[in-house]
Amino acid sequence: MKYNSYHFQYLAIFIFGALFFSNIGCQQSADVTHIEIKPYAIQQSAVFDSVAVVSAHPLASEIGKDILRQGGNAIDATVAVHFALAVVCPRAGNIGGGGFMMVRTAEGESAALDYREKAPAAATTDMYLDSLGNVIADISQKGHLAVGVPGTVDGMIKAHARFGKMKRFGDLVAPAVKLATEGYQISKAEADRLNEYQEVFRKFQNETSPFLKKGGWKSGDLLIQKNLGKTLQRIENQGREGFYRGETADLLVKEMERGGGIITKEDLVNYSSVWRDPIIGDYKNYRIISMPPPSSGGICLLQILEGVEDYPLAEYGFQSPESIHLITEAERRAYADRAEHLGDSDYYPVPVEKLSNPDYIRGRMADYDAKMATPSDSILAGNINISPESFETTHTSIIDAEGNAVSVTTTLNLNYGSKVIVEGAGFLLNDEMDDFSAKPGVPNFFGLVGAEANKIEPNKRMLSSMTPTIVEKDGKLFMVLGSPGGSTIITSVFQVFINVAEYGMSLPEAVAAKRFHHQWLPNTIMTEADMTIDTVALKAMGHVIDPKVRIGLVKAIHVLPEGKLSVSGDPRHADDDVAGW
Ligand code: GLY
Repeated sequence: MKYNSYHFQYLAIFIFGALFFSNIGCQQSADVTHIEIKPYAIQQSAVFDSVAVVSAHPLASEIGKDILRQGGNAIDATVAVHFALAVVCPRAGNIGGGGFMMVRTAEGESAALDYREKAPAAATTDMYLDSLGNVIADISQKGHLAVGVPGTVDGMIKAHARFGKMKRFGDLVAPAVKLATEGYQISKAEADRLNEYQEVFRKFQNETSPFLKKGGWKSGDLLIQKNLGKTLQRIENQGREGFYRGETADLLVKEMERGGGIITKEDLVNYSSVWRDPIIGDYKNYRIISMPPPSSGGICLLQILEGVEDYPLAEYGFQSPESIHLITEAERRAYADRAEHLGDSDYYPVPVEKLSNPDYIRGRMADYDAKMATPSDSILAGNINISPESFETTHTSIIDAEGNAVSVTTTLNLNYGSKVIVEGAGFLLNDEMDDFSAKPGVPNFFGLVGAEANKIEPNKRMLSSMTPTIVEKDGKLFMVLGSPGGSTIITSVFQVFINVAEYGMSLPEAVAAKRFHHQWLPNTIMTEADMTIDTVALKAMGHVIDPKVRIGLVKAIHVLPEGKLSVSGDPRHADDDVAGW
């Protein structure tokens, strides 16, 4: 059990000081004088008897636990956590983005919900190219043109309608309304991040933005989001209509018009999330249930697992040169396939069966050389600029007392998405359009290249790496996990799973263990900065090592043999928090 040091023993005097002497939340905080502040502590791992929640914020985890206490199931709790994260985790939690949800019911039924954003109807294949056909830097990552049609609200409604137990959807939104309206104290991590983005916020947000603050943010400051509260209230009262039509839709389209964006009212009305067949495959006596296209996550995860399955990974030893080399080679081949073959299967014939067929995957490893790195094809390599510390998205894992499990990953893409906030509606919009391949072979923010399969088309969904995953062992629920981290999500999920399954680590150890990542292009093994691995041996095999700040932020639950739930957030993220009983 681990408690983080900085949280939250603020005395009333400090809170009132913060309220009166700092310009908190710009004009929106002026009328708030009486707020009940409850100190809260962070717990990053625990073992619970029957119910576990792990998310990127203690207030969100607590809300999930409250819903479970009220008789809601894991799906209800997930929906409530999702809306809460839109308030307390503004860099990635959202109603202006999208995501993927994997469900496994207590009876063993599994389902995959795709509420990924879609390209607006007016989107064109070359919308990010100049007259010479070069990619115009930045406009797919920041500003109004970067925004895909949001899917979260429709997704949450569909998840609740199919699997929820609580009668009223609005009851799952209500806690978020309260948080947005009354405010919450931000952590040091959030204050630092908000400060880092002030300059870029100013380019895309005006003085009504709750995120702008003269003099900068500090931990314990109250973040009040009145307009977001009103939008959430419309969703609470009207469901889908409260977002995709009426006042919220009007404000969103007005925002688009103000900044040269292309989302229309028709785009909003036409948006629909989709239930898809999960990707299911086996690794030894484990069954992996994960996300199909438009995520690359499930297919790539299976490809990497099946790519290493025939080799004695445990015998090679944890992060020995042999095991890093083997995993790297499996990753290299999986990401090469990703670049060529993966995209939205509603628009492109993604060869799902073939790519996840064990014989095909074995064939891909046929030229694996245990002594030497296979050179990646460098023809497509381009101007690659990768900074994994900015790979943002957020993940939540939940298991309820009946044994229903949910693994959900949601995103605005980069930190705070496009940085555009809908004026009057108070929510940030995604910059998910950057996950399309703007031009074949030219890397996106994550250094990922793509081709025809992931080109921009009207109403199409952009390829994702989000990998919400549920694992069974011998037919029983074994693990629920996922991560943020852009292209590194898949390899983070892979490593935490094998750390438990192959190396016998406890879940907190498996999550805390240092990670590495290879994605075909660039042809480097990214490693966490302070990792102790045998770089000399790896370089002798032909590998290039590229230290990065951090890779992935996994949130997972492991069902222990006696049935208890080991749950862990990621020590790389100070706000990760578990709740349960
Ligand atoms: N926006 C990151 C992903 O979907 O992979």
